[in-house]
Amino acid sequence: MTKEVYVCETADIDEEDVKRFDYEDQTYCVYHTPDGFFASDGYCTHEEQHLEDGIVIDNVIECPLHQGRFDVRSGKALSAPVCVDLKTYPVVIKDGRVYLCLETEPVT
Ligand code: FES
Repeated sequence: MTKEVYVCETADIDEEDVKRFDYEDQTYCVYHTPDGFFASDGYCTHEEQHLEDGIVIDNVIECPLHQGRFDVRSGKALSAPVCVDLKTYPVVIKDGRVYLCLETEPVT
């Protein structure tokens, strides 16, 4: 099961920009690119650096610490020093609002 969590209005994130989103002890980044809205874990996979201050160019986020790059659509690591992909999450847009789709814990 997934749940849709409201993040912000689409107008709150400029194109080629990123917004931090914290929810239930997790931190995420939501990106607005020419291809639409995407989301990933908030921290770089190289070291404990949040990507909220990174630079978004087209569909790529560049980490502010060592300039590793990821494709935000897939999370794929594109350039050294990053070699582990970012975990990504589906994003849904409804009525001008951005929602992050998160897995819910299975009910036992
Ligand atoms: S912490 Fe992101 S590239 Fe090193």
